[in-house]
Amino acid sequence: MRLLMSAVAATGFMFTAAIAQAEPVVIKFSHVVAENTPKGQMANMFRDLVKERLGDDKVKVEVYPNSQLFNDNNVLQAVLLGDVQMAAPALSKFGRYTKKLALYDLPFLFENMDAVERFQKGEKGQELLKTMEDKGLTGLGYIHNGLKQLSSSKPLRVPADASGLKFRIMSSKVLEAQFETLDATPLKKPFSEVFTLLQTKAIDGQENTWSNMYSKKFFEVQPYITASNHGLLDYMVVTSTEFWTGLPDDVRGEVKKALDEAIVHGNKVALEKHVADRKKIAESGKSEILELTAEERTQWVDAVKPVWEEFADQLGQDFIDAAYASNKAE
Ligand code: SIN
Repeated sequence: MRLLMSAVAATGFMFTAAIAQAEPVVIKFSHVVAENTPKGQMANMFRDLVKERLGDDKVKVEVYPNSQLFNDNNVLQAVLLGDVQMAAPALSKFGRYTKKLALYDLPFLFENMDAVERFQKGEKGQELLKTMEDKGLTGLGYIHNGLKQLSSSKPLRVPADASGLKFRIMSSKVLEAQFETLDATPLKKPFSEVFTLLQTKAIDGQENTWSNMYSKKFFEVQPYITASNHGLLDYMVVTSTEFWTGLPDDVRGEVKKALDEAIVHGNKVALEKHVADRKKIAESGKSEILELTAEERTQWVDAVKPVWEEFADQLGQDFIDAAYASNKAE
């Protein structure tokens, strides 16, 4: 009997030890921007919240910023292959997986970030989070960076000033059409290459937010920035559906809660940096910030408006209408 009891106790001990030694779930989160950006801050806070609430021995989030692991061209493939578990590419970079998210690239679609927030919380915005499920990618939420500005080696006041210039763009057909409409040449290049392309004058300009231009020092190699607020830089946090549905329910719930909280924080950082990083660039004296008059701005809006029509079928007129309507507060 005693023998039997110690055998049972030993089995129990081995079982407990096995649980105690179970490997933690590792979530590698790969992104391309600096840590002092909205996305960088969101990812770090997500890591810290998961550690605080679940403990590193259960779930460990590892954040890889600055394209350390993967760049724009290969990160989604890496998510699907399980090489990383989360990423948050710009909405402009999902073209290989869905044509629908290019909606967000339509020029002058959103007047401010409140409008973006209203649209994304609404039915159509939520629907777009699910648009890649048939490809094995689950959208977990949106995170903002902000409205984009145009930087260049020469002053851009009216659309004709962009004619003949080369601009780096993210890999979006809508962004391609936007620059072609201006009679400029768009070049799809990864974010990690932009500074060098600008510095060596292989390209003339690019479009980005104040925080990306500040954190990656684009302003040091671009003498002019037009405060155009002409487009949106926003992200989707994605994971592979296989990984996500494979997590135990309680773990998935806690991880999602931590992510949602980190996104709220990241969005706050985005609003602050839109103002603060612009100010730092202005104070640097390295880049002149050009303000558009109302009349000049109208010229830009009119020049790129044909892009809306060109992509209406692909994006869905109902989606375009819903996004545009979000500019009006209810
Ligand atoms: C990013 O903010 O993730 C990169 C944006 C870009 O490629 O310009």
